[in-house]
Amino acid sequence: MTEYKIAVLPGDGIGPEIVEQGIKVIKALEVHLNVRFELQYAHIGGAGLENSGVPLPDETLQLAMASDAVYLGAVGDYKWDNIEPERRPEQGLLQIRKAMELFANLRPVKAYRPLLHASTLKPEIVDGIDIMVVRELTGGLYFGKPRAREADRAYDTMLYTRPEIERIAHVAFQLAQKRSKKLCSVDKANVLSSSQLWRDTVEDVAKQYTDVELSHMYVDNASMQLIRNPKQFDVMLTENTFGDILSDEASMLTGSLGMLASASLGEGKRALYEPSHGSAPKYAGQDKVNPIATIMSAAMMLDYSFNLPQAARWIDEAVLDTLNDGFRTYDIAEPGSQIIGTSQMGDEIAKRAVQRCQTATQPV
Ligand code: IPM
Ligand code: MG
Repeated sequence: MTEYKIAVLPGDGIGPEIVEQGIKVIKALEVHLNVRFELQYAHIGGAGLENSGVPLPDETLQLAMASDAVYLGAVGDYKWDNIEPERRPEQGLLQIRKAMELFANLRPVKAYRPLLHASTLKPEIVDGIDIMVVRELTGGLYFGKPRAREADRAYDTMLYTRPEIERIAHVAFQLAQKRSKKLCSVDKANVLSSSQLWRDTVEDVAKQYTDVELSHMYVDNASMQLIRNPKQFDVMLTENTFGDILSDEASMLTGSLGMLASASLGEGKRALYEPSHGSAPKYAGQDKVNPIATIMSAAMMLDYSFNLPQAARWIDEAVLDTLNDGFRTYDIAEPGSQIIGTSQMGDEIAKRAVQRCQTATQPV
């Protein structure tokens, strides 16, 4: 039996309750897959500050490095709003991404049919959307130096090197090859030097992927096109800050930020899985929020880190089945739908994932 070590970092706010649902789902599949998921828990973000005085305790990073995958909830709480900037809970997340060199953040944006009316956009605009946002995750404004806050002056640096752009571009081109062979690279090359290097480098990398149709778009236009005609996009490649913003925007096409999973990949087997949304401290502990993004992040973990694409598909189908059966958390509810809590949503999906697995593996 294969054993996989997962470092589980629930974090803050709603982190613990959503992570619990993802764990519930993969644990329910364990026996059917003939694998064992060994879970080891550690603190990050505000939980790290509370327990060890820093947002990324050494033992957390060590555990993460020694694991086959990291499964993370969310970080951040109002409680830490006035702490020195370098100790904010969010730094825990930025530091672990940097320390593990998780440069490729994949955020799939898919429209679920039963949720077409949950989107604020017209159903015909969102029906059939299947976008993969590839966000560079360890460079750009969030890490560039120099940066400083002075009394009445402050600055950040959007810095990229050619190798940093090349490696993320390769990830995006290879994904495009497996999908519809269309890649749109988003930048602001009409203004920013870092974007000019970005565009030139992506053009150079493109020479190795002649089967992929590459286009470029300025980020302001891309943000508009995403809600005007989102179906024109398949793989979107962009730098860190633009990707942060565009992926939140794109999540609304699916109906809720609570639907957007993510995988952050580095060299070799390094990988971290987390929902794209934040810690929503105001809803923490109320069994109210949508765990689907976190559950789908666990599905991505099975697919990318453990090579269990079939199991990932069962979870995906189970989510769809659960939605088709009318279950909704409040954020994706419509009049008449049955509103359930976080934990029940986890139960319903786990149950249906097992059913999907059993039907699929039944001898014919
Ligand atoms: C995300 C989040 C983080 C980011 C924050 C919490 C640092 O917004 O994962 O998108 O900006 O990357
Ligand atoms: Mg974000």
